[in-house]
Amino acid sequence: MKQTKIAPSLLAADFGNLQRDVEMVNTSDADWHHIDIMDGVFVPNISYGMPVVKAIAKHATKPLDVHLMIVDPDRYIKTFADLGAAVLSVHYEACTHLHRTLQAIKAEGMKAGVALNPHTNIALLEDTINAIDVVCLMSVNPGFGGQSFIENTYDKIKALKALILRKGANTLIEIDGGVSSENAKALVDAGADILVAGSFVFNSKNPTATISQLKEITK
Ligand code: DX5
Ligand code: ZN
Repeated sequence: MKQTKIAPSLLAADFGNLQRDVEMVNTSDADWHHIDIMDGVFVPNISYGMPVVKAIAKHATKPLDVHLMIVDPDRYIKTFADLGAAVLSVHYEACTHLHRTLQAIKAEGMKAGVALNPHTNIALLEDTINAIDVVCLMSVNPGFGGQSFIENTYDKIKALKALILRKGANTLIEIDGGVSSENAKALVDAGADILVAGSFVFNSKNPTATISQLKEITK
């Protein structure tokens, strides 16, 4: 049985009831809390910053999976380690010295993730894959929740899986954007290990049941 991880994105939570929504994830079948940090420069939107992450961390009981959609992420590696991030993902497109950045993330005791925009080819990870704990494949253009899933993602999962196997790496494959019960099984069959889901979970009538449904169909 496959142990697919489900990571609800708190971007789609009700920020007026953030503690309630974090606790919903705590008691659900979810595995990680996915935390989206947007700076209004790397992506055309600003989400939330350190004080909000601190509030989330205060109530969260599962690993914090932090996705930095920001320029120059090196400036904030220690900050997010201190806030309690378990996984810290930076964008390939935002890193001039990606290998150094990955080492810096690990030196702070976190798992190192690299997120790829939809246009960024898997082959660009050829020389760093063995240093990457999680590759986050963006299945929408980052910046907003609730967008439609880009179908080319399946080919990218397969190409990434092949690279991981060829290089003998232990990298996990995370899919972020437009994930729902419609595509969850196919994504896992293609090779995904972690599914991020924002609007599909939080806009549903019963988010706890929706998380269980995603967990069940990806077994
Ligand atoms: C998009 C974010 C995603 C987003 C996913 O830029 O990185 O994590 O919250 O939201 P949905 O699941 O609604 O596409
Ligand atoms: Zn994300």
